[in-house]
Amino acid sequence: MITLNNNIFNIETKNSSYVLAKDVCLHNVYWGEKVHGEDLTYLVKERGHSSFDPNLNLERDEYSFWTSYSFLESCLKVSYPEIRKLDMIYIDHTIETISKDLERLSFRYKNSYSDLYVTLVYDVYAEYDIISRYAEIFNDGEEVIVENLKSASVSVPKMDQYRVKYLTGKWAAESQINDQYLTTGNFTLQSRSGNTGPHFNPSFALDNGSATEDSGNVWFGLLGFSSNWQISFERTIYNNVKITGGISNFDFMYTLKKGESFKTPVMTFGFSSGGYGEMSRKLHAFEVEHIFPKKKLGRVLYNSWEATWFDVRVESQKELAKRAAGMGVELFVIDDGWFGQRHNDRAGLGDWYVNQDKFPNGLSEFISYVKSLGMDFGIWVEPEAVNPDSDLYRAHPDWIYRFKDQEPLQARNQYTLNISKKEVKEFIIDFMSKLLSENKDITFIKWDMNKALTDVSLGNTAQDKELWYKHAKALYEIWADLRAKFPHVEFEVCSGGGARIDLGILQYSDQCWPSDNTDAYERLFIQEGFSHFYAPRIMTAWVTDASSDNGRKYCRPYSYRFHSSMMGMLGIGANISKFSDEVLEEFKKYIALYKEIRETVQYGKQYRLSSVRESSLHAVEYVSQDNNEILIFAFRQGYQFGGVNPNLVLNGLDPNALYQVEGMEQTLHGSTLMKIGIETSLWGDFDSQLIRIKRV
Ligand code: DGJ
Repeated sequence: MITLNNNIFNIETKNSSYVLAKDVCLHNVYWGEKVHGEDLTYLVKERGHSSFDPNLNLERDEYSFWTSYSFLESCLKVSYPEIRKLDMIYIDHTIETISKDLERLSFRYKNSYSDLYVTLVYDVYAEYDIISRYAEIFNDGEEVIVENLKSASVSVPKMDQYRVKYLTGKWAAESQINDQYLTTGNFTLQSRSGNTGPHFNPSFALDNGSATEDSGNVWFGLLGFSSNWQISFERTIYNNVKITGGISNFDFMYTLKKGESFKTPVMTFGFSSGGYGEMSRKLHAFEVEHIFPKKKLGRVLYNSWEATWFDVRVESQKELAKRAAGMGVELFVIDDGWFGQRHNDRAGLGDWYVNQDKFPNGLSEFISYVKSLGMDFGIWVEPEAVNPDSDLYRAHPDWIYRFKDQEPLQARNQYTLNISKKEVKEFIIDFMSKLLSENKDITFIKWDMNKALTDVSLGNTAQDKELWYKHAKALYEIWADLRAKFPHVEFEVCSGGGARIDLGILQYSDQCWPSDNTDAYERLFIQEGFSHFYAPRIMTAWVTDASSDNGRKYCRPYSYRFHSSMMGMLGIGANISKFSDEVLEEFKKYIALYKEIRETVQYGKQYRLSSVRESSLHAVEYVSQDNNEILIFAFRQGYQFGGVNPNLVLNGLDPNALYQVEGMEQTLHGSTLMKIGIETSLWGDFDSQLIRIKRV
């Protein structure tokens, strides 16, 4: 509920209050556990200190316009040919009910020096304690250059300590959890690689250093943007903490002509008083309901990449498909290598015709074969990039990003296409539409992108600095267009593993590929980080050979690999054509088991019981939406000094209800399971267990 009393805007969600006051600026008075917001008038007063910082309310400004008397990160900075001053005057506000789940509060401002308007939007999802924010700029006057534009700023209450939890990573080691205590000054997470990036994810959680998985206040935020982004945390000398997020300042400019407008990416904020676990559950539920495109059960897929790499020939694929179908796979996906002269990563990217040597009778013959086995069919593409050794590049060398007359940088032997160019965008939409309409049985696209953006320029104008933003915009438009034309096709986002995971692209993706690291043990770390901010419903996880041979000398039993991958969207990526009948049977058994439990995994509530980062026991629990089915995946990595297994202490149960633990005769109360827990039978190296529990 949103109310206004005595110039105080009180945004009340199920478990939180977000209170704003409008005086020298629109500033945050309070955000946290629920209070009677209308009481907070006593906190609204001038807070002066010296002529160097006359009103400290500006430190808690919800959207600071550059040239105000504030020296923190600004949200909007513009310039006209003769003036750079912004004097944004509040015009009005509106409160609207958009749907049963969504109320909207908007503030409108106008520059007193020009016809520039800004609307700050707060989309309030009260049920989840989530507020999504963005700004819309409208220019009704002379051309203006926007030099800095953020989605939102937010402040947290003053505390003794501020700890920021966030995800860092690199290729094959994405989504690693990091903690950073804020000292006075500025701490910024960002991407300058034209993509969301594997190095930092645009998400954070903040607490006073004492929150745990199950307790304590946590403030969190996620930016939905897949190009250069930044989230800065400023702890001021007056101990205010202001968090500002949006498009990165780095190499950004945007020109708005008369009549043009610009909507920033959305920054989603939320509050949990039940620790990090509750934060994640709120986010998972919110994403499923309000971000992801469809609410369907995810299919068990097979992907050819780690089995045949670029050598995807119809015979080998048929063998894989036959075996995949036999074990219960529902969707067969051909990865890289099916097109052009793509025999390795040095050639062919961009030539989207079927390779006749590999598929002499075209794709349709193979797709029919897959269908005849009772499976759906999916295919890999990487439309934003091109190998120099390709017909596409030879025909259109001007389609890539490059500084005038300069040789662009290559990575993985490829350049990036400027997809914001009309003809390039049309080329991508056309070849994808042709592929999908000529092959109506393609129901899944894995969309990859294996290079950071470099040389993002065409000349040296203000417009060149729009390209970073325009790349992401064009990408979203292409996906939206294809999804509208081919509503039966699901999309998976991949970027050399997990370099493109954010709430922007996830509005269009049914699932994502979190990492090229498919080792079942290392995945536990990646999946745990991922789960802090993103729902298991979209986390693809394959059982592969990576854990057995492949020169890596890992040794994880199949049970362990399956349990690790069953915690999200199960897929198979192993070279199953080499498997014995016995191993095929084992795979079949696990796939059947996954199908029995997948609804709870994909749409249930997730509780992280024990972390591989802190304990020899790693355990994650899922409780079905109706609270009747409980699953626990438990992993033990090594056995040391005759160590005793810690008990598995459950969470999220009804203390007074009775539960039946599979394999136990006695039923136990929820309170017993949540206070004392159950013993596991984990033994030796890389042992794992799936424990199934039913509410009686
Ligand atoms: C990188 C992806 O992450 C892999 O899964 C695979 O699709 C390769 N690209 C193909 O080139």
